[in-house]
Amino acid sequence: MGSRSHIVVAVLSLFLIYSTSIPFQYLDLPGNYSLLNGTNRLRLGFNEDAILNFTGLTSKYGYPTEEHTVTTEDGYILTLFRMLKREHCGKPIRSPVILMHGFVDTADTFIIAGPRIGLAYLLADACYDVWCPNHRGSRYSRRHVTLDPDKDAKFWNYTYDEHGMFDLPAVTDYVLDNTRSKKLSYVGHSQGTAAFFVLVSTRPEYNKKFNVAVCLGPIAWFYNTYSPLIRLAGKFTRQIQLLMHYTGVYELFGPTQPLVHVVEFLCQYIPKGFCGTTVFVLAGQNPDNIGQKTLAAIAGHYPRSSSANSLVHFGQMLTVDKFRRFDYGTENMKVYGTPEPPEFDLSRVKVPVALIAGKRDWFVSLKDVDRLNRSLPNVIDYYIPPEQDWSHGDFVWGAGAPRRVAPKILQYLKKYG
Ligand SMILES: *[C@@H]1O[C@H](CO)[C@@H](O)[C@H](O)[C@H]1NC(C)=O
Ligand SMILES: *[C@@H]1O[C@H](CO)[C@@H](O)[C@H](O)[C@H]1NC(C)=O
Ligand SMILES: *[C@@H]1O[C@H](CO)[C@@H](O)[C@H](O)[C@H]1NC(C)=O
Ligand SMILES: *[C@@H]1O[C@H](CO)[C@@H](O)[C@H](O)[C@H]1NC(C)=O
Ligand SMILES: *[C@@H]1O[C@H](CO)[C@@H](O)[C@H](O)[C@H]1NC(C)=O
Repeated sequence: MGSRSHIVVAVLSLFLIYSTSIPFQYLDLPGNYSLLNGTNRLRLGFNEDAILNFTGLTSKYGYPTEEHTVTTEDGYILTLFRMLKREHCGKPIRSPVILMHGFVDTADTFIIAGPRIGLAYLLADACYDVWCPNHRGSRYSRRHVTLDPDKDAKFWNYTYDEHGMFDLPAVTDYVLDNTRSKKLSYVGHSQGTAAFFVLVSTRPEYNKKFNVAVCLGPIAWFYNTYSPLIRLAGKFTRQIQLLMHYTGVYELFGPTQPLVHVVEFLCQYIPKGFCGTTVFVLAGQNPDNIGQKTLAAIAGHYPRSSSANSLVHFGQMLTVDKFRRFDYGTENMKVYGTPEPPEFDLSRVKVPVALIAGKRDWFVSLKDVDRLNRSLPNVIDYYIPPEQDWSHGDFVWGAGAPRRVAPKILQYLKKYG
């Protein structure tokens, strides 16, 4: 595809996100979309896995889970899921592992492809104590002690800066306390890796709490992304912010925005043509690695709630080639005490880090990961699966993941965990 058609696709997708969400925000649709509730969606032939939530999915496949909540310093109430399947394991169970999802995603990403592919299942099979948190604003963590996500713009005033500075410390300390462990291991996908780098570079005392960090489709520098949606956001960050301001819509892909339901609906019937394209607009498409049933299931879970500011932050990373905090423009002085946002200092990341990146990952280009590899002081491995068409979703959803990614992760966890 030429660059012009990328732009067209991107313009169309941004138009869809906003044009379909804004008017409906103000319409009181009858019955809370009851036409598309679980029962009716099943009747219409939806893939059941598109409808079930984390707890429902894991119990369907014979993996009981526990739900935990933790409140961050700044009042966000986060949900964590813990895999409980233990009968096949001796005692004691292996050390805790946190699996952290990416942008407009949730913990569902680690189970949605089913027990043979989903990383949470594979690590539970290998007897690790698996914890899957959901960052602030995402479907399972759309709660705050005082703020209302449906009314308060302030609730959505975050990006991966806050995931790293507030969500991850809360989650890490909670898991360590709960399991009475001194250390845990970390596996992040996409933005979940940027949040990790933010955590240990801004709060270096956290270095000693991790055995190892495995980074799938890692993000720090982002200048060379090919993602059409992000490239567009990079061109129009100012306009997106104005749009947010004037429409009062600060949430991206929220549950009351019909777009996500339209996408989910169409994906049930034309998974490859339609859903593949939606995923591609965000992350790049690998047409054969992600099965049709998995695509239909994914559509019920991704993309979902996050802050529009997160998209703006990614956009800013294309304007200035730096891994740095959110740019508040004229307010930087007030927030940071400097006219420009501060950069993250990766030399402070002492935790052993393994990088796994894909050759055809449109979201995260190898050029940017190469730079990350050169900038981190303690890279234990930088692995690139040999497949020419390995893309951003393949780490968590791809049929090749159990062959390429899981064995590597198990190897790092065993060696360092
Ligand atoms: C929609 O859901 C909210 C919260 O669950 C409830 O308070 C409200 O009454 C519902 N509206 C309709 C029309 O059912
Ligand atoms: C879904 O909505 C239908 C009516 O459209 C209703 O009969 C059914 O009970 C609802 N199911 C659930 C689980 O809410
Ligand atoms: C998952 O779905 C079940 C059934 O609809 C519901 O009872 C439960 O509260 C949900 N759990 C979460 C974490 O959303
Ligand atoms: C968002 O947060 C920044 C920094 O904490 C603050 O300066 C700004 O006023 C906030 N904006 C809103 C809309 O809450
Ligand atoms: C990663 O960085 C190291 C040290 O800077 C270098 O030796 C190695 O070749 C790099 N790996 C790749 C795949 O570029």
